Amino acid sequence: MRKQLATIMRTSSRAALAGAALAALTAASSAKAGGDRALGEYLSAECTTCHQVSGRQDGRIPSIVGWPEDQFVAVIESYRDKHRDNPIMQTIAGRLTNEEVAALASYFGSLKPVR
Ligand code: HEC
Repeated sequence: MRKQLATIMRTSSRAALAGAALAALTAASSAKAGGDRALGEYLSAECTTCHQVSGRQDGRIPSIVGWPEDQFVAVIESYRDKHRDNPIMQTIAGRLTNEEVAALASYFGSLKPVR
């Protein structure tokens, strides 16, 4: 899978990758747990410019590692639906497909916070 993903990343733009992910999601109406962890790791680069991989809180940036996947998905959806009103996270969450949210939930959920 990792090798496959690397090939995709070399041969297509991020937009094309997102488009393919979206096309693969025919019937799904909301993100679910059980996402693609390797895709999540790839996508996490955007998140970790703010959120710490260590799981430490950094100023006003909360920890997002080691969460149950369904909880992570629900929180991202609450930004996407604008039930949570942080404009940064609303913008970021609004750009993610359901498959990408599930992938991020799987990856961040697999990390252990450092104490
Ligand atoms: C520009 C900085 C920034 C980036 C990039 C960013 N976040 Fe955030 N994130 C924040 C801030 C600030 C908050 C706190 C917002 C609030 O108070 O609601 C937050 C909150 C969250 C929360 C809720 C945490 C909690 O304890 O309630 C999750 C989950 C989250 N971000 C996931 C992500 C994911 C996944 C990505 C990448 C796709 C990402 N963030 C990218 C700044 C960022």
